[in-house]
Amino acid sequence: MSKALEGIKVLDFTHVQSGPTCTQLLAWFGADVIKVERPGVGDATRGQLQDIPDVDSLYFTMLNHNKRSITLDSKNPKGKEVLWRLIKECDVLVENFAPGALARMGLTWEKIHETNPRMILASVKGFGPGRYEDCKVYENVAQCAGGSASTTGFRDGIPMVTGAQIGDSGTGLHLALGIVTALFHRTHSGLGQKVDCAMQDGVLNLCRVKLRDQQRLAHGPLKEYSQFGEGVPFGDATPRAGNDSGGGQPGRILKCKGWEHDPNAYIYFITQGPVWEPICDIIGEPGWKTDPAYATPKARLPHLNEIFTRIEAWTMKHDKFEAMDILNKYDIPCGPILSMKEIAEDPALRATGTVVEVDHPTRGKHLTVGNPIKLSASPTEVARAPLLGEHTEEILRDVLGYNESEIGEIANSGAIGAVQKIAAE
Ligand code: COA
Repeated sequence: MSKALEGIKVLDFTHVQSGPTCTQLLAWFGADVIKVERPGVGDATRGQLQDIPDVDSLYFTMLNHNKRSITLDSKNPKGKEVLWRLIKECDVLVENFAPGALARMGLTWEKIHETNPRMILASVKGFGPGRYEDCKVYENVAQCAGGSASTTGFRDGIPMVTGAQIGDSGTGLHLALGIVTALFHRTHSGLGQKVDCAMQDGVLNLCRVKLRDQQRLAHGPLKEYSQFGEGVPFGDATPRAGNDSGGGQPGRILKCKGWEHDPNAYIYFITQGPVWEPICDIIGEPGWKTDPAYATPKARLPHLNEIFTRIEAWTMKHDKFEAMDILNKYDIPCGPILSMKEIAEDPALRATGTVVEVDHPTRGKHLTVGNPIKLSASPTEVARAPLLGEHTEEILRDVLGYNESEIGEIANSGAIGAVQKIAAE
């Protein structure tokens, strides 16, 4: 079976998380992703959070599957020459350098577009044009500036960041969509274009329900927030809502059997209107089916704390999986709080390729997250991340057409550093 993006060459000038997430998606879909890294150094994440000395970190290996690595000093004259040859050869250049860094390398959009009019230049920056456009930005900065932190956590606590990397991986995902859209546009325009995604904007896009609530506030309190039932007045900005659900159906995280010693013995429970009657039967409150104070979703809003306390008295008698089994029989929406350990061991996630084991020449076998997007005609085969510069010679020869003496000349110039040889796998 052919891969969906087979034939597309990506000059991957990304590092850390946001850009690599984007190019990893393109690589999973079959694009030839050529990761350009600084000789001797590479992507900074290779050495960050290392669990095994001198072995590429899981941070790096889990964000750079299915790519090839070439080391190239983009500030060395010979390196620049190779880089321009790559620009002529590739379809997409993806980068997430600090603002201005690409231009300082001499790679302006005008020059790139003139050299290869079909090339798409895709960039992640922390902020779009405006007062913060020159800032360097990491994940949590984007979560804070994009509206996530101010709306996450509990009302009586400080703003919270979430563990999901919505600033980095979320923006990479947005950028990948921009790239394939620009590739589609190119099929009829014949031209490449610039694709920009700011991390603040990507986070805000994922937080749009909170901007929805901001505007609803002008017309009265947010009745589905627990705060309403507790009689706490609303201020002038969307408040933090704890574990309330983001939609109109009240939901909470409730304790399950074992919560005293297991930090993840919890279930998310949604009191969806259409299944109110079975909920009442299960928790032993059949009277609430007809009692006017509980019978309708609107009537229940001021009593949510009492209702969830009663439901929790029931969930605490069951472990989270037992509770799921019972509630699912009645289509009551709920979800177990799964630990990373449970996810890593989940046979269903292994079977679908969402959790995959890969082998690596220096690290050995390790788990990674595979492609969550499943295409029926072009399934993803997850391949390990490359070693630093592992494919330098191969790319110079096979992609750029340099002969052996030219490759020697490039090596002597210092543009590619020491080329890494790996033992046969
Ligand atoms: N050869 C030579 N120089 C190279 C090179 C190569 N192959 N690859 C990178 N460099 C140079 C760059 O040109 C830059 O030099 P300059 O400052 O002289 O222009 C330098 O390396 C550092 O790049 P920079 O992007 O500034 O890295 P940083 O480690 O200082 O900052 C970030 C990291 C992530 C904060 C920054 O890149 C950034 O804000 N990126 C955009 C937002 C983003 O993606 N953030 C999320 C990261 S997950």
